[in-house]
Amino acid sequence: MTSIVLLGTQWGDEGKGKIVDLLTSEASTVVRFQGGNNAGHTLVVGGKKTVLHLIPSGVLRANVTCLIGNGVVISLDKLSEEITSLENQGVSVSDRLRISLGCPLILDYHIAIDKAREAHLGANQIGTTKKGIGPAYEDKIARRAIKLSDLSDEIIFREKLRLLDDYHNFALTQYYRQEPVDISMVFDKTMGNWEKVKGLTDDVSNLLKQHFDNNQNIIFEGAQGAMLDIDHGTYPYVTSSNTTIGSVFTGSGIGPKYNENSIGITKAYTTRVGAGPFPTECTDSAGNFLAEKGNEFGSTTGRPRRCGWLDLVALKYACELNGITQLCITKLDVLEGLSQLHICTAYKTKDGADLFYPLEIFELEKISPEYVTFSGWSEGTKGARTFDSLPLQARDYLNFISDALKIDISIISTGADRDDTIMLRNPFCRND
Ligand code: GDP
Ligand code: IMO
Ligand code: MG
Repeated sequence: MTSIVLLGTQWGDEGKGKIVDLLTSEASTVVRFQGGNNAGHTLVVGGKKTVLHLIPSGVLRANVTCLIGNGVVISLDKLSEEITSLENQGVSVSDRLRISLGCPLILDYHIAIDKAREAHLGANQIGTTKKGIGPAYEDKIARRAIKLSDLSDEIIFREKLRLLDDYHNFALTQYYRQEPVDISMVFDKTMGNWEKVKGLTDDVSNLLKQHFDNNQNIIFEGAQGAMLDIDHGTYPYVTSSNTTIGSVFTGSGIGPKYNENSIGITKAYTTRVGAGPFPTECTDSAGNFLAEKGNEFGSTTGRPRRCGWLDLVALKYACELNGITQLCITKLDVLEGLSQLHICTAYKTKDGADLFYPLEIFELEKISPEYVTFSGWSEGTKGARTFDSLPLQARDYLNFISDALKIDISIISTGADRDDTIMLRNPFCRND
C-alpha cells in the first residue's frame, strides 16, 4: 500500500487533474482535502474533455472511490450539478463518492459577500473566482460555519442558519449596500440538496484508515498551487486555504506516515489567473504565444490566464515548502515553436542582491528576474511518449530544471490527453 500526494507548485492550473486521472490507473482511491469549486481540473480521455470542480479526478475510472475530506468547502448546489452532469454522461458517481460530514457549506451569503467585497475593493481586488470560498473559510475559522453534519437535524440547521443570516445580511445591506439573501430560499434549497446527497456522507477519516489497512493505493489531489497558499503564497493575492502539504492531513483526517511521494506538478512555463505579483510575466509576443498555444483560459471562470516564463525561484520555494520528492512537468508541447526560451533563476534587487521567498509584495515589485536562455525547438514534443524521442533542446530544458532543483522528474506531459505522457518513473514505487 502506498499513498502519494499531488500538489500544484505554481499559481494553480498546472495540470493536476490530468495527472491524477492518469495515475488513478494504479489507485483505488482519490481524495480532495482543501479548496472548493474554485478549482477546475480538466481531464481529457480519448479526445473527450471533462472539467471537475469538486469531485476528485479519479471519477472517470469505474472502480475508484472518490473521497471529499473535511478540509473542502462545499457548495451543495454545485456538487449536485456536478454529480448530475457526470451521471447524465454515463459516469457512475453516487456509488463511489463519499463526502465528509465535517465539510463546511458554501451558502449564497458567502457568494454574495465574495462578489460585494471584490466590487468594493475596486482596483485592489484579488480577482477571486467569486464562488464564496474566502467567506466560507472565514466562517469556519470564526466557528459559525454550518457543516454538512448540521443538516441531519432540521432544528439545529434552522437555528444556525438564522445566526448566519443575521450576520451576513447585516454586512451585505449595511456595509456593502447590496440586496440581502433570502433565508427561506437558502433553507429550502439546502434541505432539497441534502436529500440528494445525504446518502453520500461519511466519516472520511475512518474510511481512509480502512483503505490503508486494506493495502490500497491512495492519491491525495491538491487544488490551486503553493503560491496561492494562505500562509506561504503571495498574500493577500492568494486563496483562503492552505494549498501546501499540511492540508493533506488536516483536510482528510489521516496522519502523514503513509505518504510515499509528494509529487510537485509544474507547468513548463508559468500562468496565473487573478491579480497579484507575477515576476516572470510576459506581456509581449512570447506571453501571447503561450496563452494561445496553451489555450490559457481559466477552467472555472473562463478568464484569460496571465502567462510567463518558468520561475525557478518560486518553484524551489514551493518544492521546499512541500517536501517535494518527484516532479511532474506538464504542457511541454506548448513551448514547441518558440525560437528561444527563458528560465528565471534569481530575483535581483537594483543593487544586485538576491531575493528569496517569502517576499513582501512591495519587494516583488522592485525586483528584476534574472534569466538563463535556452534554444527552442520546432517539433517533436506534441504527444511524445518517450524521453529519448524528445528534441535535444527540450531534454536540455528539462534536465536544467531537475538539476537546479535537485529533484527527479517522474512524469512529463506532452498533450492534454491522458495518453500524451512520458512516464519516467512510477510514483507509487517505493523510494528505497
Ligand atoms: P489543474 O487545475 O491543475 O487541473 O489544471 P487545469 O485543468 O485548470 O488547466 C490545465 C489545462 O491544460 C487543461 O486545459 C488541460 O486539459 C491542459 N493540459 C494538461 N496537460 C497538458 C499538456 O501536457 N499539454 C497541453 N497542451 N495541455 C495540457
Ligand atoms: P485549480 O485547482 C488557478 C485564484 C483566483 C484568485 C485567488 C483567490 O484549478 O488549480 P478564490 O476564489 O480561491 O478566493 O480566489 O485564487 N484561484 C485559482 N487560480 N487555479 C485554481 O484552482 C484557483 N483557485 C483559486 O483566481 O486569484
Ligand atoms: Mg484549474
